[in-house]
Amino acid sequence: MDEAKLNDFMGKLVSDMGAAAMLANIIVGEELGLYRAMADSQPVSPEALAGKTGCNARLLREWLSAHAASGYMEHQDGQFRLPEEQALALAIEDSPVYVAGGAVVVASLFHDKDKLVAAMRGNGALAWGDHHPCMFSGTERFFRPGYRAHLVAEWLPALEGVVPKLTAGAKVADVGCGHGASTVIMAQAFPDSRFEGFDCHAPSIDTATQRAQEAGVDERAHFAQFTAKDYPGRDYDLICYFDCLHDMGDPVGAARHALQALKPDGSVLLVEPFANDTLDQNMTPVGRLFYAASTFICTPNSLSQEVGLGLGAQAGEGRLREVFKQAGFSRFRRATETPFNLILEARP
Ligand SMILES: C[S@@+](CC[C@H](N)C(=O)[O-])C[C@H]1O[C@@H](n2cnc3c(N)ncnc32)[C@H](O)[C@@H]1O
Repeated sequence: MDEAKLNDFMGKLVSDMGAAAMLANIIVGEELGLYRAMADSQPVSPEALAGKTGCNARLLREWLSAHAASGYMEHQDGQFRLPEEQALALAIEDSPVYVAGGAVVVASLFHDKDKLVAAMRGNGALAWGDHHPCMFSGTERFFRPGYRAHLVAEWLPALEGVVPKLTAGAKVADVGCGHGASTVIMAQAFPDSRFEGFDCHAPSIDTATQRAQEAGVDERAHFAQFTAKDYPGRDYDLICYFDCLHDMGDPVGAARHALQALKPDGSVLLVEPFANDTLDQNMTPVGRLFYAASTFICTPNSLSQEVGLGLGAQAGEGRLREVFKQAGFSRFRRATETPFNLILEARP
């Protein structure tokens, strides 16, 4: 037994337990508006923050101290400050690096622990719709900032000839659209195009419909409950999958359906979690997060559907290319990437 290695590992575990406990504190801070109340990055005492937010000053002192000990806030002379950079991640929902939604996704893993234990002991299946409701709202809030930052500015322009079609007026399917964050963002950017969002989870379709109404794009963005293998239409210019193809039981069947639903010169936009092709190459903080989430979410959802391929969130470009090749697509390439996403393009 190497004592130094043991000490290192215990240090890592204590740090990870602290991180997990901090995620619960982040959710509380978010819900109570504490970060928003500190978003001006001015030093504040627990009592002053209590005055601003109506919360208990003694509990706030503990919450603020946890943030100071975590490096999330600065502390001096009894006052706490949320630096501008931390405010971007925790207080400003419109910022491209806002991550508080991710804490809500992680929370749902704890809520769903017993269901995963049952899946592990059984056939591995845990369907998306059987998660705690905070999975759905957390996913929307976790992914939306990235879509808002990159989808129109970088991802669509990285595809061959797609932006001119969208500008002129194109027909688009957003498959596995969830709460429709990506659909609404595209509909806002391209007023002459029509968008159809499809998802097999009925409550998500209801929320997506509501989001389109709130954004005033419901005339050109419609949502309906269909699976990735049975949605209608044969004349799409663009079919998109945002963080969902690897969740499907039969991604080859889904891609085959897309091939016959696309126009001959249409395109597929495949947005997937960033991953390299092997576990050894994915031993990174992002890989760790995605494998851990995929154990609870993506892989058991795939195992709950027909075929049950179980690609997992770290499928990587090589396996995804194989899916589209098997489905009959002739071209497949990496269009661009971010630290969190691979942006892939498939053409008939
Ligand atoms: C991780 S969520 C992503 C949702 C959304 N695209 C987003 O980026 O916020 C995966 C979505 O895929 C949907 N889904 C999973 N399997 C599906 C299938 N076979 N057909 C249609 N939708 C599916 C789920 O219901 C869920 O809404």
